[in-house]
Amino acid sequence: MDGGGSVLDVIVVTIDGPAGAGKSTVARELARRLGFQFLDTGAMYRAVALAAIRAKIDIRSADLLSNLVSQLDVRLNEDQVFLNGENVTSLIRTWEVTNIVSLVADNQDVRNRLVEWQRAAVQHLPTITEGRDQGTVVFPQARCKFFLTASATERAKRRWSDLQERGQDYNFEEVLTHQELRDERDRTRPFGSLIPATDAIHIDTDGLEIIQVVEILESWIRKSVSEPH
Ligand code: DC
Repeated sequence: MDGGGSVLDVIVVTIDGPAGAGKSTVARELARRLGFQFLDTGAMYRAVALAAIRAKIDIRSADLLSNLVSQLDVRLNEDQVFLNGENVTSLIRTWEVTNIVSLVADNQDVRNRLVEWQRAAVQHLPTITEGRDQGTVVFPQARCKFFLTASATERAKRRWSDLQERGQDYNFEEVLTHQELRDERDRTRPFGSLIPATDAIHIDTDGLEIIQVVEILESWIRKSVSEPH
């Protein structure tokens, strides 16, 4: 699939937005309700970050990262993430991975390879994909595009609770400060940066329950799917 352009009959829905805006939870539930496949593209970047930690390479070296990613195979299967065949689903959610992943996502070769895998993953399956560049770079012809946001404090609270639930005890201020740094990197990288597609529907999730967000998006998607494209 070349950016969604050649397979216009495959329905692709993109959800982009900053960390903690609720993208994964919403995308997963929407995929379940609509019978679509779900792609968590941040999980792919996290898997590459995990591989870099394991290989003990200097992640600031573009060449070392490019070389590393050329030897990797990262696959998503529903909620599971596989790195060279190994299930790394929970290993990619650690603070250590979260800390370095945006540096890994800055690398152009890493991005090119992951974009290739993301397009290949759609095949002919209706897909809901979430990340930062899905509506802009990866699937510019997507049927329906959303940009989910929430205030920085709200997003950090969600991330902090998530870490607590995983038994990782971090100070809230630390989570907030780190999130600000990551947001900045995600927004300012020269390619695949976090910017809304011009035709994206913006949803501010502050004060909304997940279920309410799901319902808002679901009605947009159902409307868009029923219209001629
Ligand atoms: O959504 P997440 O926190 O799991 O994403 C992990 C990192 O990967 C985050 O710093 C942004 C980056 N990312 C990206 O650059 N492009 C994507 N499509 C998805 C994630």
